Amino acid sequence: MAQNEMSRDQRDETRADFVVVGAGVAGLTAALRAAEAGLRVVILTKGPAWHPDRAEQATSTFYAQGGIAVVEPGDPTDSVDLHLADTLGAGAGLTDSRIARPILDDGWSAVSGLIGWGAEFDRGPGGDLLRTREGGHSVRRIIHAGGDATGAQVQRALERRLRAASRSLAITGHDDAVATAILRANGQTVGVAYRQRGRERVVHAPTVLLATGGSGHLYAATTNPSGATADGIALALRAGAVVADMEFIQFHPTMLFVEGARGRRTLISEAVRGEGGRLVDVDGDPVTAGVHPMGDLAPRDVVADAVETRIADSGHPCVYLDVRSIADFPTRFPTVTEGVADAGLDVTAGLIPVVPGAHYQCGGVLTDVDGRTAVPGLLAAGEVARTGLHGGNRLASNSLLEGLVMGRRAAAVAVGRRGRRAGEGAAAMPGMHPTMPRKELQDSMSRSVALRRDADGLDRVATALSRIPDRAAITDTDIEDAALTLTATVVVAAARARTESRGCHTRIDHPHTDPQARTRCFGWLDGELTECDGSETITRIHVPVP
Ligand code: SIN
Repeated sequence: MAQNEMSRDQRDETRADFVVVGAGVAGLTAALRAAEAGLRVVILTKGPAWHPDRAEQATSTFYAQGGIAVVEPGDPTDSVDLHLADTLGAGAGLTDSRIARPILDDGWSAVSGLIGWGAEFDRGPGGDLLRTREGGHSVRRIIHAGGDATGAQVQRALERRLRAASRSLAITGHDDAVATAILRANGQTVGVAYRQRGRERVVHAPTVLLATGGSGHLYAATTNPSGATADGIALALRAGAVVADMEFIQFHPTMLFVEGARGRRTLISEAVRGEGGRLVDVDGDPVTAGVHPMGDLAPRDVVADAVETRIADSGHPCVYLDVRSIADFPTRFPTVTEGVADAGLDVTAGLIPVVPGAHYQCGGVLTDVDGRTAVPGLLAAGEVARTGLHGGNRLASNSLLEGLVMGRRAAAVAVGRRGRRAGEGAAAMPGMHPTMPRKELQDSMSRSVALRRDADGLDRVATALSRIPDRAAITDTDIEDAALTLTATVVVAAARARTESRGCHTRIDHPHTDPQARTRCFGWLDGELTECDGSETITRIHVPVP
């Protein structure tokens, strides 16, 4: 037996039709839909059992503030065509309209399904859904809940539904379960190995969905919860899947500024600007004047860059969101108000200090429009996936929408694969992986691979990453750190390869944008990160899985 293989009697083994790794909007939607269709579903989540009152929540879904961008059929002020045009405008030439169109088309049906499961969105006196505006949107199309607590409402509705479903359907959740490997046999996915409270376990299943969220903790400060450690990217790459557009890390223009603070920081929703908040510098001058016709509501990459520029030019460590024109701010934005108060500040003072913060991974595991990756039986949905909707810069509030739609589509794929026999793949124990200490990694990424990059900085990080020795994954944190290290390696490789500025990837040494937009794809081949041809790979994924 190879050194890092386990004998069967040392591990706990179970069987399922469908394993979902992650419990945010995409994962829970997929799990519930698949269970309702009769599949035996297992959900693996890293954190403790969900509870609405926990101070730190595990999913990025819970922390989403602004809302869900969605067009209701028959709305005279909006259309899917207009939503698509805004999505393409933000995506900087890399949004794939062949993928984006069907996702946006399915938006209303997916949101209606969620409402049917009990989600309550803010409504006006006549019962109509209230809508706000965010960066890059040409109209008010973003529905919201609890003012700025949309993600919390979505998470609650899904968790309630899960609790009810688990009484009558074959759906089981495992908490504190850290996925360590995707199991494969004869090129097919056959299950997942995971570690739960120090014990190695396996679920055999013909279909596995990665819905693990993003990678915000590549950076010292982020709007993401602590579990956003790029786990799905590492699992997918090690299983032979392909990742794409990884250099496009979206920095939200307005993360609460607290001198020297690390880890998850409070987001100040773009909807604050949609309701009249204005970005000003330390002297009270507007930050985006003359930058873009949409001003403070320009696409996120534009506003984040304007904020970064003003901070650099002024020598002051932050800019401010002037919210004095927003009537009864604490009622409309209770989540922001609480986050600001937790930092010892008071929103009623009218000026909230903000900086750009790592917020969203626009690229990810390359999938087709149904969530299939290049590995048969391995699916990806939500932030971990790169469907082609977000391109080089995600349009605000398109992420919950994508998670809902792609969760449903992934469930349909899993249902179609029902009955396939999951073979007995060898369970690789979490082995030895290059693992950079987290603080060192975050500091390097924040210094050289953030909003602005250049060859020297990227080369320095690439060299440091290439010298990192392998380390055994003894603790759950080691597994996360190895995932962050591998993901940083791909982000840096993609950023070095892209010698142009586009979307949320700005090369100060290559300020131009190439006339031709091209997605960059990477895979793990013979122990090496290797760039592969995107169009070929996409074509291969689009071929129906046998
Ligand atoms: C926000 O409320 O500004 C965040 C919404 C998003 O990231 O799409």
